[in-house]
Amino acid sequence: MQIAKTIAEMKALRMKSFGSVGFVPTMGYLHDGHLALVKQARAENSVVVASIFVNPTQFGPAEDFRTYPRDTERDLAMLEKERADIVFMPSAEEMYPERFSSWVEVEKVTDRLEGSCRPGHFKGVATIVAKLFNIVEPTRAYFGQKDAQQALVIKKMATDLNMNLEVIVAPTVRESDGLAMSSRNVYLNPQERQAAAVLFKALTLAQNLREKGEKNAERIRQEMTSLISKEPLAKIEYVSIADAQTLEELSELDRPALASLAVKIGKTRLIDNMVLE
Ligand code: PAJ
Repeated sequence: MQIAKTIAEMKALRMKSFGSVGFVPTMGYLHDGHLALVKQARAENSVVVASIFVNPTQFGPAEDFRTYPRDTERDLAMLEKERADIVFMPSAEEMYPERFSSWVEVEKVTDRLEGSCRPGHFKGVATIVAKLFNIVEPTRAYFGQKDAQQALVIKKMATDLNMNLEVIVAPTVRESDGLAMSSRNVYLNPQERQAAAVLFKALTLAQNLREKGEKNAERIRQEMTSLISKEPLAKIEYVSIADAQTLEELSELDRPALASLAVKIGKTRLIDNMVLE
């Protein structure tokens, strides 16, 4: 496994790569959700590139950029075990030199949900992912359904800007109680960790109501909200039943819908989602 710390080193390794290149961008502190993406990339490509970069521009001023968990040694051992070929881990100065001034803005799909709770977040995400795509030049790039809106934003960007790659979205990997794996789960104390299962419970409730034939989206939102409200450590940011493509809130479940939510458990903000079939 080769490690590239500069853009020049990464581009030189890319030049020497033959066949298809699968790319998994991450912010590190890897878990089985990230590794599932690496495994899929490994199965589908000749060369696998992963990146580790905690991207400052996608964090708001009051968010956890400084305290975001980091463990490069452990990450590299995990990537080596999954047989990644190249790890790109640039510094912030390398990616955002002085006088950096170009940004990618994906409109509309970024207006809602995470976009409205975290202003500027998707501008940071789209810009760093566009830069990574230009540096790595992947054949295929792999993202998790865990961040459903992010996946839609990246797909839209790749289509609108005619980027020459395939964006692949892989299922959410969960703990045994259903909690979606996340680097931020490490912030939870044991009591909060138990409480955090309420996100998956609420999504499962939505799925069950849908399966029983409930078509009224507001009733599903209400049932989810009331379930979460029973958990004293949980504070809802949003509960959404939206069109799975446009993320516009639905009143009637007459097309594929995305149930999604953002909930604070203590000080930790968690998100999760489920497609309602
Ligand atoms: P990060 O949170 O490290 O996630 C990297 C990738 O792993 C994302 O595509 C995310 O959706 C996926 N992922 C995270 N948890 C998952 C889970 N439980 N199951 C399946 N996939 C999961 O998302 C980012 O980093 C950043 O925004 C990034 C795209 C790297 C740009 O900075």
